[in-house]
Amino acid sequence: MKLLKKWLFAEPHVARGEIFSALDIGSSKIACLIARSENEGAPRIVGIGHQLSEGMKQGGVSNMEALQYAVGQAVSAAEHMAGETLQRVTVNISGAHLLSQTVDIELPLNGREVSENDTARILAQGQTMVPEDHLNQPMELLHTIPVSYALDGQKGIRDPLGMTGGSLHAQMHLIAAGFGPVRTLATAIARCHLDVEQIVAAPYASGLACLVEDEMDLGSLVIDMGAGTTSYAVFFDGNIVYAGGIAMGGAHVTNDIARGLTTSIAHAERLKTLHGNAIQSQMDERESIDVPLVGEETPENANYLPKSHLNRIIQPRMEEIFEILRARMDKSGFNEIAGRRVVLTGGASQLPGVRELAQRMLDKQVRLGRPLRVARPSTLSSRSGGASFTGLAESTSGPAFATTAGLLAIAMQPELASSSGASNFGTRTLSGGGSAMNRIGMWLKQSL
Ligand SMILES: Nc1ncnc2c1ncn2[C@@H]1O[C@H](COP(=O)(O)OP(=O)(O)OP(=O)(O)O)[C@@H](O)[C@H]1O
Ligand SMILES: [Mg+2]
Repeated sequence: MKLLKKWLFAEPHVARGEIFSALDIGSSKIACLIARSENEGAPRIVGIGHQLSEGMKQGGVSNMEALQYAVGQAVSAAEHMAGETLQRVTVNISGAHLLSQTVDIELPLNGREVSENDTARILAQGQTMVPEDHLNQPMELLHTIPVSYALDGQKGIRDPLGMTGGSLHAQMHLIAAGFGPVRTLATAIARCHLDVEQIVAAPYASGLACLVEDEMDLGSLVIDMGAGTTSYAVFFDGNIVYAGGIAMGGAHVTNDIARGLTTSIAHAERLKTLHGNAIQSQMDERESIDVPLVGEETPENANYLPKSHLNRIIQPRMEEIFEILRARMDKSGFNEIAGRRVVLTGGASQLPGVRELAQRMLDKQVRLGRPLRVARPSTLSSRSGGASFTGLAESTSGPAFATTAGLLAIAMQPELASSSGASNFGTRTLSGGGSAMNRIGMWLKQSL
């Protein structure tokens, strides 16, 4: 079975009462989820805290103190609801510094059978490699994912265990992030008296949360359009094979509106979410919107403008983001592997018209994605007796929580990302242990 799916879709076996937590640090919101395994190991979300982000810009920390305060608030709210105190969190990182690279590793076998020891050695070797940034910035390895194996020239082997040959080649996908941003994030979390269980590339988490099995197998591109970043990942043959980030997202659209229509950021955000569209239309000339001017809060002084003024600002910025993405995909060599399937998620994917625009710009079929693996109220009340947090679960089941849900999936199933880099943050190393294997499966079944 494919490695990623082995962890993602199999039966869970966890100790009753075990606690898992995810901390999604975004440019616009910070969200903390706590799940507890109950009812024969089926985990259930028991704590949710989310609030406006502070101290973050374009996926990176811009003000440590403000960030610590915001993280503290979100975590305390989730802890309070769950009646638990967190020690460790699985946290995300995104931004333009995300780097992904495929490397080949060779191991001589000399006619022996491939053992678990061999695959572990290959993995360990991958974990000593760090992708090179073209600007020569120091990087921190986050994930080392075996994508496929070849035995004496026979390619495309998913699991070589028990096979015999002369030499084993592994193709590994390394995902790294800027050393500085990773360390700063880890420090900010440590100052909140929390240990980092794992730092996860945000688009990896979003893909795990939003993609269905066929999309992971046949090839697809997941795009998480957030406030300060648009991060993306290609999944193929059940694995993540490429990932990256662009330091641009919904907040840039809002800023453009505020500048272009000389209104405040808060009004620009409101105009965008209430009236905005990623594609201009002729109807826009006929509809008007009230635009309060900066510093003049009284409605009499508002500008009364045709909606076309708003969408004329929105469309070029959205096009710019998709253009950068298209260029990255072309350059990466993974465009064909991703096929024609795109899953668009993240808060900014809620802008009307964005799906059509993405379809047009990327020349692919686009569907809007939201976390599939977050327990929904209907399934909770019938199977887990979880009606007590019905409303709250609903509030975190939208596209803005794709990364959050994926982080929780990884927290519950560390092997998903545990072929991870070095030891850095007290990360668990790949154990391959059977008992921890399958936490997600049951949760998934209960959620769909
Ligand atoms: N209904 C809507 N229409 C358009 N945009 C929306 C809507 N709702 C939210 N957004 C935009 O979504 C963005 C926030 O998305 P999200 O919560 O995914 O970001 P984040 O995770 O905090 O940021 P990042 O991942 O970039 O660090 C904001 O720019 C906001 O304007
Ligand atoms: Mg985000």
